[in-house]
Amino acid sequence: MRRPAILPALLLLVPGAFAAEPTKPAKPPALESSCVTCHKDLDGELQQPAVMAAEDIHFLKGLGCNDCHGGNPQAGADGDLDAAHDPKKGWSGRPHRKDIPVFCAKCHADAAFMKRFDPKARVDQLQEYRTSVHGKKNAAGDERVAVCVDCHGVHGIRAVKDPRAKVYPANVADTCARCHNDAALMGHYFIEIGQVDAYKKSVHARALYDKGDMSAPTCNDCHGSHGAVPPGVESIAGVCGTCHTREATLFRDTEAKKGIDLSACIQCVMCHSNHAVLPPTDDMLGVGDKSTCTACHAAGEPGYQAAKEMGEDVVRLTGTLREATELLDRAEQAGMAVGPDRFALKKAGDQLVESKVLAHGFDLGRFKEASTEGIKAAEAGLTAGHRAFAELRFRRKGLALSLIVIAAVIAGLAFKVRQIERGGGR
Ligand code: HEC
Ligand code: HEC
Ligand code: HEC
Ligand code: HEC
Ligand code: HEC
Ligand code: HEC
Ligand code: HEC
Ligand code: HEC
Ligand code: HEC
Repeated sequence: MRRPAILPALLLLVPGAFAAEPTKPAKPPALESSCVTCHKDLDGELQQPAVMAAEDIHFLKGLGCNDCHGGNPQAGADGDLDAAHDPKKGWSGRPHRKDIPVFCAKCHADAAFMKRFDPKARVDQLQEYRTSVHGKKNAAGDERVAVCVDCHGVHGIRAVKDPRAKVYPANVADTCARCHNDAALMGHYFIEIGQVDAYKKSVHARALYDKGDMSAPTCNDCHGSHGAVPPGVESIAGVCGTCHTREATLFRDTEAKKGIDLSACIQCVMCHSNHAVLPPTDDMLGVGDKSTCTACHAAGEPGYQAAKEMGEDVVRLTGTLREATELLDRAEQAGMAVGPDRFALKKAGDQLVESKVLAHGFDLGRFKEASTEGIKAAEAGLTAGHRAFAELRFRRKGLALSLIVIAAVIAGLAFKVRQIERGGGR
């Protein structure tokens, strides 16, 4: 009962609250402001912002040129530039490159303002950015590092979910490449180039680009979007482990069980690289040339012995599994029913995957449990394949025998018919 009375009462306290409404000219839709109308008729970089506005997220949300640059969007339609570029209306012109992060953060760090558009909007971009190599150098006046517009564009900024956005997962590597593949630019900082090319050959890029697997990482998943830094040695397992949780944590069990420190063993990038993460190969285990273990474990050490046995088991399991699969395939093509055997063989495949994961526990006993079970299942598959072929041979022999019998019967019948015919002719 009391609520409805409050609003009129408050309005009475504000002088002119009723009077102001009708006389205030309606704000033109952002795309019809004098800024857009006049700039559309200009050329080159003066025209582009007005052309790109139609697709810019800010315009889609009802903001206009003046919300970023200031000025009067209702004046100047008659050609009066100064009335539009009006300093009294906050006109600030083109921001200097080094000031852009603060320029964008005027809104993006203003929680009260941003939550009006999206209650879940993040407002920590500038804060995060300041923790990055880019942001620290920007604060120190370096103009070559990435600022907001290098990653998002200036005019025609798209929502991050828009597949055409510069920061859409499939486009991120190219966005970073503009600078990180520029040898002259990176030379100033003694930073290597080639991360983008290396990344594009990786299992991660293949998954993202070829399979459309959006759970595969691109640059900002490992480095952070706004807080871009190379992960420190201590945090690399953590970075990879946000997705590969088992590989990243198995060794902890072993550490607890044996009371040893395995942090030296588990630096993911030491064995898999950081950007060119390739499909792992079996010779990364074992003690051959490509072994990833022998750099630290010499013959005679438990680590060496573990590497050797793990390598042997993986090779044996992989080989037996392949042989069994081929045999069952051929048996099936020959018309034998091998469904149940094939199903049982799946277990060997699962154990192979499990063993490869368990290699990261650096615990031979635990690894062996999985690999032994896998080898057993693969060998059972092999036996089933051989059995199917033995049965096939048996059936073929039976078939041949029955064909001979049938042929003999037919021949006998034909002979009989001829005899009868001859007898009938007489
Ligand atoms: C009557 C035409 C006209 C109108 C209206 C107009 N502009 Fe301009 N604008 C220009 C011209 C011409 C230039 C280039 C010459 C100059 O910088 O003075 C320019 C330059 C700019 C620049 C670049 C300034 C720099 O420092 O390089 C920005 C930013 C800009 N306008 C924004 C706006 C905004 C925002 C509005 C609306 C509030 C607006 N303009 C309205 C004609 C116009
Ligand atoms: C989201 C904020 C934002 C909006 C909205 C915006 N601008 Fe800009 N504009 C910028 C920034 C930032 C720069 C400086 C870019 C740089 O230096 O790389 C800029 C630069 C310019 C320039 C200088 C030339 C150039 O392309 O760098 C002009 C002209 C301009 N803006 C006009 C406009 C007009 C006209 C509109 C409306 C159609 C508009 N801007 C809307 C942020 C904005
Ligand atoms: C080095 C490149 C880079 C720079 C510099 C950068 N961004 Fe981003 N930004 C990204 C990426 C990548 C995403 C997508 C994040 C995601 O999908 O998780 C993003 C997302 C966003 C979003 C969407 C909400 C969110 O936080 O995920 C906003 C808003 C944003 N950036 C604003 C800014 C502002 C403002 C600045 C400057 C202070 C800035 N960005 C600087 C790369 C960058
Ligand atoms: C006048 C206030 C204002 C300024 C200045 C501003 N923005 Fe925005 N920006 C917004 C609003 C409001 C949204 C829409 C937020 C929403 O609905 O989630 C937005 C959206 C975005 C998005 C899309 C976020 C998403 O969730 O997909 C990006 C990226 C972005 N802005 C980047 C920038 C950059 C870069 C600058 C500086 C050149 C800038 N903004 C300057 C107000 C502003
Ligand atoms: C406008 C150019 C530019 C763009 C775009 C850019 N960067 Fe950078 N980045 C730099 C420069 C310059 C440095 C060197 C700063 C320094 O070390 O002093 C740097 C440094 C870095 C570093 C720190 C390297 C080190 O060893 O200290 C990382 C990590 C990084 N950038 C990641 C990214 C990612 C990820 C993207 C894309 C999302 C990106 N950058 C986009 C210019 C850029
Ligand atoms: C799977 C995670 C991952 C992805 C994806 C990734 N990085 Fe990295 N990046 C790292 C790690 C880890 C390091 C630190 C390596 C080290 O200390 O040995 C690093 C280091 C860097 C460095 C510092 C210089 C160097 O080479 O050591 C730059 C610059 C860089 N990355 C840029 C990029 C760019 C650009 C992309 C996208 C094309 C990208 N990274 C994708 C994990 C990743
Ligand atoms: C954002 C999640 C994510 C992050 C972070 C990540 N990965 Fe991956 N990774 C994946 C996905 C998804 C695949 C599956 C690709 C496929 O096979 O389709 C994959 C595949 C792999 C493979 C190949 C697996 C196989 O069976 O062929 C290796 C090795 C790998 N990642 C190592 C790493 C390393 C090392 C890091 C850290 C430097 C890392 N990953 C960071 C998601 C991630
Ligand atoms: C000491 C070397 C080494 C380190 C360190 C290492 N790995 Fe591995 N990784 C291997 C080996 C060896 C394989 C199995 C290769 C094979 O037989 O196919 C493997 C396989 C993988 C696979 C594929 C498993 C599968 O299902 O086929 C992923 C994913 C993976 N590693 C991620 C990681 C992550 C994440 C880290 C860090 C937490 C890490 N690795 C650390 C050596 C290492
Ligand atoms: C960067 C050096 C490094 C690499 C590479 C490395 N390890 Fe280790 N490994 C260590 C260290 C250090 C220990 C801890 C030694 C200790 O405290 O007994 C250890 C311990 C072990 C142990 C436990 C031994 C015990 O006492 O029970 C096993 C098993 C092991 N490593 C296997 C491997 C295998 C398999 C690989 C290759 C996939 C590998 N390591 C790669 C450094 C390494």
